Amino acid sequence: MTARRPFRWPALLTESGRGIAFGGDYNPDQWPDEMVAEDIRLMREAKVNTVALAIFSWDRIEPREGEFTFDWLDSVIDQLGAAGIAVDLASATAAAPLWLYETHPEVLPIDKYGHVVNAGSRQSWRPTSPVFRQYALDLCRRLAEHYRDNPTVTAWHMGNEYGWNNRYDYSDDALKAFRLWCERKYGTIEALNEAWGTAFWSQHVNSFDEVLLPRHMGGDAMVNPPQQLDFERFGNDMLLDFYKAERDAIEAICPDKPFTTNFMVSTDQCTMDYAQWAREVDFVSNDHYFHEGESHLDELACSDALMDSLSGGRPWYVMEHSTSAVQWKPLNTRKRAGELVRDSLAHVAMGADAINFFQWRQSSSGAEAFHSAMVPHAGADSKVFRGVCELGEALETLSRAGVQGTELRRAGTAILFSAESEWAIRSQTLPSMKLSHWHDVRDWYRGLLDVGRRADVVPLAYDWSGYKTIILPTVLVLSERDVRRIADFVRAGGNVVVGYATGLVDEHFHAGLGGYPGAGDGLLRDMLGVRSEEFNILGTEAEGEPVTIGLSNGLETHLWQNDVTSTAPDTTIMATYAGDAASDWELDGVPAITSHPYGQGAAIYVGCDLDRHAIARLAAAADGLPWFGEPACVKPGDYGDAAGPTAATANAVPSEDAAGANAPAPRILHTVRESADGAVRFDFYMNRAKESVAVHDVPGEPIIAHRCSRSPSGSAGDIADGIDITGVADGWLLRRNAILVTRTVHRQE
Ligand code: GLA
Ligand code: GLA
Repeated sequence: MTARRPFRWPALLTESGRGIAFGGDYNPDQWPDEMVAEDIRLMREAKVNTVALAIFSWDRIEPREGEFTFDWLDSVIDQLGAAGIAVDLASATAAAPLWLYETHPEVLPIDKYGHVVNAGSRQSWRPTSPVFRQYALDLCRRLAEHYRDNPTVTAWHMGNEYGWNNRYDYSDDALKAFRLWCERKYGTIEALNEAWGTAFWSQHVNSFDEVLLPRHMGGDAMVNPPQQLDFERFGNDMLLDFYKAERDAIEAICPDKPFTTNFMVSTDQCTMDYAQWAREVDFVSNDHYFHEGESHLDELACSDALMDSLSGGRPWYVMEHSTSAVQWKPLNTRKRAGELVRDSLAHVAMGADAINFFQWRQSSSGAEAFHSAMVPHAGADSKVFRGVCELGEALETLSRAGVQGTELRRAGTAILFSAESEWAIRSQTLPSMKLSHWHDVRDWYRGLLDVGRRADVVPLAYDWSGYKTIILPTVLVLSERDVRRIADFVRAGGNVVVGYATGLVDEHFHAGLGGYPGAGDGLLRDMLGVRSEEFNILGTEAEGEPVTIGLSNGLETHLWQNDVTSTAPDTTIMATYAGDAASDWELDGVPAITSHPYGQGAAIYVGCDLDRHAIARLAAAADGLPWFGEPACVKPGDYGDAAGPTAATANAVPSEDAAGANAPAPRILHTVRESADGAVRFDFYMNRAKESVAVHDVPGEPIIAHRCSRSPSGSAGDIADGIDITGVADGWLLRRNAILVTRTVHRQE
């Protein structure tokens, strides 16, 4: 991997240039020119200090080929600058004008069936098209020349969500580029044949001119998995290349302003391998759209945990999120009271120093007319706009308190994420088509939150050797090098938790031999002290068969059980399969969860899928064992149940099942941001539950108490929101969607 570009953060137009950036995508091209003045008036009212501008404005800047006009954009930027609002200026290449497709239809992508992907939306271009590249780079250079010295433009917003609509292109340009890419990667055709396993189905490739894209080959044809995985990598690389070409074209003219492009990290998506992309931007930014349902806050935190790792622990930028509903899911839920502010501040709690939305003013036409915005259809006299103003106030308060530049305190445990594994599990050739690496990462993240432990989420490719424990949930692909890194980590005293479908194939999608998990030529098995021979797969499709299998520790597994047939003499069997369903599948007594000493550390094998609740119970039972490192920021039982007997009863989470009856899940997500010199620290407390939750022993002075009430004395008989908070020392009651932020300043001698 290439070295990371140095961290550079866009300045604001405040006196110091500092403060948390606040604003959104601004699309004045959708409105009459007079609207800009009214927009700016409202932006000032809401304390907006930044906008992302001209993302889809190519047709305004170059209305006809070669005819560049900047008057409109100049005027908008001038007005924003005069109002003290900084501009994150787009390269404007995400959506090309229609004239380009008329003259150059050869830039349009081709789908896997050979159909042209038509113009009319955005990103209707091939990343590998030399023609498109020429037009796009020309536009980049024009923009750079024109805005090089403009003081209102403080950052470059390259493209928009690269890969959103052109991740897969099967054109002849792509074919040509793919052949070159393969040649660069493999050097010799023998190496490619070996990696792709072309002896299977008569697919021997005689020269790089015979290499094929995985185009549609007929209804039942299965793409060769190593070829497909390389095609995923190739698509990622072509877009990254394109981004770099755009960035470099601007940087050659305008080197002083930082570059970013908005990633799409949320725990359902894996468009790009952002572990690579993060090294090519000056500051990392993300578009995060919430999950509907009860995972809302947890999912946000899990995605953000990866963002924090991608940014190397430095602050990062929320480039887009929504004030309320989106319009592109089957079901578009709105946000409840306080959620707009809470979500935004939750991103700050997870390390963000910039909170932007898609978009400033809700469109009245076009594909996104029913997507929420900062100024909704209803206008400024609306709940949403009042929420936006409240948020502006809160972010200004946090800026004044000095949050910007402080860093999220890392946890002791890292859940490892690998884009390649997420791509690989989508291959329709595995024992189960229901695998999801990302969802298993999320389940582990949430299961640990449920026992008061916050993990980080770290790319497999990065350095995680400083953690106490690493967890690999469904990291299907492990190269020999990765397995060695893991084994070295454990030998040196680390703990590893290896999930049920981890390390089944190497980076060429070759299954390891000699027993599962086979990655690392037996090293992974040796480290774990287990060997399994078959996968036991369950599902409702198998009529008359059990759909769950019980474990001897009371947990249940639903999808996948490894049939472990031997263990090392020093392997401790922590749970076996047990019960009727286990007997039915001849798994009764077979090891399901094991632990094995390896060097100075321990290797835990979770040989079957566990849902979030089972993971929580496993982690709770492992309390005291070194597996999950030390509790990160919160201790089990610190919250919810620890506020005194009465409050405990009032707050107790109805247990998920009998075995967990005495372990109410901690319902506070607590994070800490602190300055590098340790002089100032911010504590963030967020209520994960629907019910109000009491917290106590909160350090420092309160800075933000969004939907929180305080018990000043914590004295006998105090009731807040119907909950007795007697005995809660310096108690706070956090209602639904609450967030409490406090600051502690350590005086330095
Ligand atoms: C068919 C084919 C075999 C193999 C099996 C797999 O029977 O003839 O080559 O693909 O399916 O189930
Ligand atoms: C993406 C895009 C935006 C907009 C939003 C809608 O994040 O970048 O232009 O389409 O989705 O949610």
